[in-house]
Amino acid sequence: MNHTPLWASESFWKKVAIWVTAGSFVLLIVLTFDSMSKVQAGSRRVPAYSVINQKIDYRFDAQLNRYMPVIGGDEPLFDRPLSEAEAEALVTLGKKTTQAKNCINCHTILGNGAYYAPDLTKSWLDPNWIDAGNRENLMLAFLKNPPGNARTYGTGRRMPHLGITDEEARGVIAFLKWMSAIDTNGFPHNFKTLYAQEE
Ligand code: HEC
Repeated sequence: MNHTPLWASESFWKKVAIWVTAGSFVLLIVLTFDSMSKVQAGSRRVPAYSVINQKIDYRFDAQLNRYMPVIGGDEPLFDRPLSEAEAEALVTLGKKTTQAKNCINCHTILGNGAYYAPDLTKSWLDPNWIDAGNRENLMLAFLKNPPGNARTYGTGRRMPHLGITDEEARGVIAFLKWMSAIDTNGFPHNFKTLYAQEE
């Protein structure tokens, strides 16, 4: 006589294993599409590439209790408004340059990288650039010759010459500007711009 209760039977656990595997698989597919829709340019948190034609601000949102990018009026990069396709090409060139030159060996980009040098996620909004005005031209000069145009962070650390071409540097700046408009849930924490006001 066999009195094995249902929960201890082999067939019960086989069914459980099949249902859990199938359920997780479906959930994984749903979450993949959900994440993809959230990280794509042009979604709610990640703006379209042509956002580089606009002014980007960073303000404290009292309700959310964190800083939020605020996209404002016209402020084209290098005084030239770009189409969506042109903007995407430039931002992509910049992103690939940051990968080719391994910027995250020293910097952090969207949570990836090192903290030897300043976090680049919101560096477009760094008061050091805003304060001086004419931000993109200063950044351009800096990226093409970092030791010769060093910023003053008081760390004594210097960014080395990376042999970036003019076009690559423009791409990097477009990438940095676009990235600064991404809603990163307040990351990096404690980053404040000159104009940021707690309301
Ligand atoms: C060997 C380390 C190192 C590498 C690699 C490096 N940097 Fe830097 N970077 C630094 C240091 C150190 C500073 C701060 C000192 C300074 O600004 O003079 C800096 C500063 C910066 C700043 C100013 C940051 C701010 O918030 O104002 C930008 C922008 C920047 N780097 C971009 C880049 C990009 C883009 C790359 C890759 C193409 C790169 N860096 C690669 C070390 C590095």
